[in-house]
Amino acid sequence: MSRVNFGAKPIMFPQPVLIIATYDEKGVPNAMNAAWGITTDYKEITISLSHHKTTENLELRKAFTVSMATEDQMVSCDYVGIESALDVPNKFEKAGFHATKSEYVDAPLIDELPMALECRVKSYEDDILIGEIVNVSADESVITDGKIDPKKLKPITFDPANNAYIGLGEKVGDAFKDGAKLK
Ligand SMILES: Cc1cc2nc3c(=O)[nH]c(=O)nc-3n(C[C@H](O)[C@H](O)[C@H](O)COP(=O)(O)O)c2cc1C
Repeated sequence: MSRVNFGAKPIMFPQPVLIIATYDEKGVPNAMNAAWGITTDYKEITISLSHHKTTENLELRKAFTVSMATEDQMVSCDYVGIESALDVPNKFEKAGFHATKSEYVDAPLIDELPMALECRVKSYEDDILIGEIVNVSADESVITDGKIDPKKLKPITFDPANNAYIGLGEKVGDAFKDGAKLK
């Protein structure tokens, strides 16, 4: 192996493409793209977030949803990552998104994105958002035999080395099982 060093950079594979949705003080929905986030406990998500309209909203409402960006909605999902509702108040509408209020938290679900985590704000300090996952919901259209089906959902991942979005590939193994061959 001949390794090349890239220095200290926030590069991991795969990174998610999370679409965080919130309501503002008037009840107007907003959405933003976040790739630096991951679940950090059974009912917890942690996302690295600098100041945005989204962070103002979630501090006010103490709630947000996190939808998985999908191949079908890639353009809208990128758009909400390159324009701010601080500049364009009708950004959510311009993205072509429609909102339905979560039954669990004071935040919108995005009708166009079929799977989401519904979260309460636990803390937002030093650009780190920690949320409690109150519910996970998915549209019937992406469920097979009672389980969320990635082949139907078609989530995209963020490639931080090339600033690209990549679709998922084929299943390559069974987790917590295939490694047992080497026990
Ligand atoms: C691929 C991608 C990933 C991003 N990831 C993050 C992130 O993890 N944290 C962050 O603070 N901003 C991230 N952004 C930037 C925000 O999405 C962007 O600043 C957005 O306009 C904020 O919207 P708002 O001000 O309407 O909330 C990302 C943008 C893109 C395109």
